[in-house]
Amino acid sequence: MNVKELKLVYSQERIQGRVAALGAEIDACYGDAPLLVVCVLKGASIFFADLVRALKKPAVELDFVRLSSYGTGAVSTRTITFSKDMELSPEGKHVLVVEDIVDTGHTMHFLLQQLSARRPLSVRVAALVDKYARRERHIVTDFAGFSLQDGFIVGYGLDYAEQYRNLPAVYEVIPE
Ligand code: IMP
Ligand code: MG
Repeated sequence: MNVKELKLVYSQERIQGRVAALGAEIDACYGDAPLLVVCVLKGASIFFADLVRALKKPAVELDFVRLSSYGTGAVSTRTITFSKDMELSPEGKHVLVVEDIVDTGHTMHFLLQQLSARRPLSVRVAALVDKYARRERHIVTDFAGFSLQDGFIVGYGLDYAEQYRNLPAVYEVIPE
């Protein structure tokens, strides 16, 4: 895919507004109960950094996972493994997984299966974008920043072939 242009989808201001609202929803959901927030690298890193700072809860732990699905292009593939696992144990804890995009749902399905086997108190999902047109696995996104039918987007952590993650807003890639 050759990139012709980037078209603005979510501005910095809109993202900030949604992140603040999600932080309030998450606080309301868990009250003062301790929470382990797990970032799915690399795409969710910027969303995660903003979201955890929007929480007013006193007891928040942070951890990171990285998942590999073979291939680097725009098409998501289905063989998923941990290339970096968590360091903290989720056992007996409320866990909130923070992902950039839920697309087909295969990545999140894999991660939720793995986490559930480790006996957490609960597992919920926060995603910056719930992209639903290509969904193949039923995934409940408990806290969704935005809902998008389709289109390939970049920026605010999201990449196309490792580019554009540092853009402060989200753009749709318009191919040539
Ligand atoms: P799924 O397994 O199909 O749900 O894939 C989800 C992963 O694919 C996300 O975590 C992203 O890393 C990647 N992905 C899906 N759609 C996009 C997109 O529009 N832009 C950038 N990455 C995407
Ligand atoms: Mg990802």
